[in-house]
Order: sequence, then C-alpha cells, then structure tokens
Amino acid sequence: MKVLVACEYSGRVRDAFRRHGHDAWSCDLLECEADPTWHYQRPVEEILDQGWDLMVAHPPCTHLAVSGSRHFAKKIADGRQQAALDFVRLLMNAPIDRWCIENPISVISSVIRAPDQIIQPWEYGHGEVKATCLWLKNLPRLKPTNYVEGREPKVHMMPPGPDRWKERSRTFQGVAEAMGDQWGDCVLPFRAEQMLLPV
Ligand SMILES: C[S@@+](CC[C@H](N)C(=O)[O-])C[C@H]1O[C@@H](n2cnc3c(N)ncnc32)[C@H](O)[C@@H]1O
Repeated sequence: MKVLVACEYSGRVRDAFRRHGHDAWSCDLLECEADPTWHYQRPVEEILDQGWDLMVAHPPCTHLAVSGSRHFAKKIADGRQQAALDFVRLLMNAPIDRWCIENPISVISSVIRAPDQIIQPWEYGHGEVKATCLWLKNLPRLKPTNYVEGREPKVHMMPPGPDRWKERSRTFQGVAEAMGDQWGDCVLPFRAEQMLLPV
C-alpha cells in the first residue's frame, strides 16, 4: 500500500507503516529527523495526486487550536485562520480513498465538521493528557492499545523555547504504532462491523 504521511517531520507514523511492509513516505517543509530516505521535503500540495492509497495528515494547528483562541480575532482579520482551514480542506479533498486528519481541539470542528473520534495519549501507553481529534475517511476508528494510569498535561507545561512547538507536536509513539498496526491492512475489504458507527 502506498501511504503518505503529510506534515510529518518525525517519521513516526511513516515508520510504523513501513514496519508493516508498506511503501510509506513522510512529507514536510522541514527535514526529517528520522531516516530521510523516505521523506519529501517540500509542500505536500505538490504530491497529493501521486496515487496514494492512504494518507495520515497532521496539518499545522497554530491558527486553529482553541487553546489559542485569545488570538483568534486577529487571525481571522488577517486571513491566517482562513488559510489554515483552506489547507485542511485541500487535504480532505485530496484524491485519496482513505485518510485520517489529526488536529487538537480546533475550529475545524465548528467550521468544517465534527471529528469522528477524539483520542488521548493515555489510551496508547503515554501518561499524558492531550485531546487529539481524528477526522476519518474510509478508516475504522482507532482502538486504544494500552491504558495507563498517569495522566499529566505534560505537553502544556513544557518550558518556553525555540523548539517547544516541535516537542509539543511530535506524534506520540504509541499512537503512531496503533495507526500502523490497525490501518496497515485497510486495503483489504472492510468488514461492516469495522466501519464507522454512529457515536
Ligand atoms: C503540527 S506539526 C506535525 C508534526 C507531526 N505530528 C510529526 O510527528 O512530525 C505540522 C507540520 O506541518 C508542516 N507543514 C506546514 N505546511 C506544510 C505544507 N504545505 N506541506 C508539508 N508540510 C507542511 C510543518 O512544517 C510542521 O512540521
């Protein structure tokens, strides 16, 4: 299966799919901090039409996340929020049959549509709290793999610094593994009971 992991510099989701034998590639404006062999360092818009079977996308949330809502008035006025939403719509309209778009609690839910699922790192082996929305097309909801007790908002408490955003935005390893493990076989026909059910 040809898998595109859009807006990923960590290579974590890409490598989770590669471990299952898929032809998975990451794409980001930044260089890859893992093995660069399977990384496009360029705007993902340029490669969306290259025949991907599945996409996992992590679009920037800086102008969308409700945690930054105190800045919304300015970001709406100067067009930054609209541009960020347009980018999400572009990904959603890509000619790819199956995708997951991931973002924190954000205006995507009110302006575009509600997410199909909200996950937490503590459901996937990390003792942290960070509500993460998943919008899904032709993919089953991700199943929790490892509930853990510790539940700290570590990502919110990180000290300021130039790399703070990077430390906060890297996909949790347990979530990346779950995506590779559970969606890696999705090119096979779905069983009806795997498909999205009403919440
Ligand atoms: C929230 S971070 C996601 C990081 C990801 N979870 C990871 O583990 O690498 C969003 C990323 O989108 C990238 N990005 C922004 N615009 C892009 C574009 N047009 N094409 C590709 N990547 C883009 C940024 O450079 C940033 O690394």
